[in-house]
Amino acid sequence: MPLISPEEINRIKNSNDIVDTISKYIPLIPKGKNFFGVCPFHEDHSPSMSVSKEKQIYTCFSCGATGNVIKFIEDYENISFMEALKILADRAGIVLSIGTIQNKGIDKNGPLYDIYDLSSKFYHNNINTTLGKAAKEYLKQRDIDEAIIKEFGIGLALKKHDMLLNLLVNKKFDMNLLMKSGLVVRNEHGYLDSYYNRIMFPLWDITGKVVGFSGRIYNGEKDAPKYINSKESEIFKKGELLYNYHRAKDEARKENKVIIMEGFMDVIRAYTIGIKNVVAMMGTAVTKEQALLIKRMAKNIVLCFDGDRAGEKATLSCSEELLKVGVTPKIVHLEEDLDPDEYISKYGKERFLGKLENPMNVMDFKLSYFKKQKNLSSEQDVAKYVSDVLEELTKIDDEILKELTLRKISEEAKLDVEFLKKQLASKEAPKKVEEKKIQKKKMNKYDKAQMYLLYYMLRSKEVIRLYNQKITFMPTEQYRNLAFHINYYYKLYGDINISSLIDQFEDNRELIRTLGEIEQLSLKENYTIDEIEDYLNTIKEYNIKNGQAELQRKLKEERDIKEKVRIANEILALKVRRDENDK
Ligand code: UTP
Ligand code: MN
Repeated sequence: MPLISPEEINRIKNSNDIVDTISKYIPLIPKGKNFFGVCPFHEDHSPSMSVSKEKQIYTCFSCGATGNVIKFIEDYENISFMEALKILADRAGIVLSIGTIQNKGIDKNGPLYDIYDLSSKFYHNNINTTLGKAAKEYLKQRDIDEAIIKEFGIGLALKKHDMLLNLLVNKKFDMNLLMKSGLVVRNEHGYLDSYYNRIMFPLWDITGKVVGFSGRIYNGEKDAPKYINSKESEIFKKGELLYNYHRAKDEARKENKVIIMEGFMDVIRAYTIGIKNVVAMMGTAVTKEQALLIKRMAKNIVLCFDGDRAGEKATLSCSEELLKVGVTPKIVHLEEDLDPDEYISKYGKERFLGKLENPMNVMDFKLSYFKKQKNLSSEQDVAKYVSDVLEELTKIDDEILKELTLRKISEEAKLDVEFLKKQLASKEAPKKVEEKKIQKKKMNKYDKAQMYLLYYMLRSKEVIRLYNQKITFMPTEQYRNLAFHINYYYKLYGDINISSLIDQFEDNRELIRTLGEIEQLSLKENYTIDEIEDYLNTIKEYNIKNGQAELQRKLKEERDIKEKVRIANEILALKVRRDENDK
């Protein structure tokens, strides 16, 4: 990070205590010296994330996520280091001494982003010309006005086959890359634009960069698909983004609520009546990545999908995915098979807002869904109904909701609540076992020596010095790398500080993971010199043994007699060292 000095980074960190900061996102409870919370970076159900006020770092004992306050903001908000720094500086009232925020490093996908950026400006410009009149008329009739067209960057692909192509070729973009972007295709006559006479909706990644388009027909063409989405690329993965995420996330956080819809048109329509904490799936089943994104947006999640049968099914599968990551969503069901856009048009803003304010709980939605297909006067259907509902109950964490639902079906099916509880317990038992925490890897004594040594190197200059005096090499690559960084930091600053060290790692995930692994040891804070010597000797012994094996192998292969003697001597010298080490 060449743009900003370590002193300034430290000043910003010092003004943003890690416990206070993380508390803004997830509740933390004090336990011993540390604080604990439910980890937002994996499917956590119990508080696995430990936050140290003293060290100003966090680490998750389950998934290994580790970092300082900047890293937390980066990963939680899915933003770059500089963006995270800017947020923290703003909160502390510090003005960053750089003019513009730039992404660090060079993005190899830069040109691809440039293509989409340029294309979206081009399309948007088209719609504002006279050729865009019909398209604007169409949008207007759907209650989408100028301001919304601008806000959502809506554009138009004209009735010509090479407009965008010519623009992009003039800008000297590589033809292969244009093909890769999906905005240009090739047929027997040559290259041409993919989109022809469609209203163009830009699709953004979670940071707000345009990474694709969806193009809609607007004069009732027959036999044409309603929407055409640009194809997936290295930067456009439908399963990893939510439509409107970058715009909705702050609003969602403010209201502590986010509304999920099926179609992006529904989101745009919601905007027209002032609902801004809203995102859409991209017409596909929700993925785990999306479920985790949603989970991070707000505590209250409301699904407002299309009211038809397909929408109900999508609601169920989306709830399923959310429950798996520990989120219990609420459901809004729209009557008459309407989608949100149609509902607003038919019944108006107030009534739609009223629906949003009174969502169903997910179990009630499921109960009514199951009931629809069954005849509860038939005993067979009742049995199936009860068994379906119990199965669903095994998936939720919310104990109160479980109890309430059990009472409901007890009444409906005329079965004793205690009996139902037992049934549920027997269904739940096998699932609990699967959920066991990730097994910690088994340490041999050499791993242990390296890890323990690193734990104390991270805490004490004295241990770093001892390491440098006695050995300068750790046998295992990941530990060697971490030791190298600790040493480097120590040489630069004459001290060691875990939180600042993390800033030096930049985006090296392997280093962060290793640091997390070491931190999770949670050893006692005080060491004795004897213990440290012990670890050092173990590592030395390992290095010598390894060196010896290597030399034995060389000796066997060597043909030159003089060289053989030299190697034999080296082995002997190692043996002497080893014996000394053993004493
Ligand atoms: P819908 O068919 O519900 O679209 O598809 P909609 O939101 O009601 O759109 P309008 O009101 O007719 O304009 C929901 C989502 O499925 C995807 C799109 O992402 C859309 O937002 N979809 C739909 C496609 O990708 N292609 C299609 O042909 C249709
Ligand atoms: Mn619609």
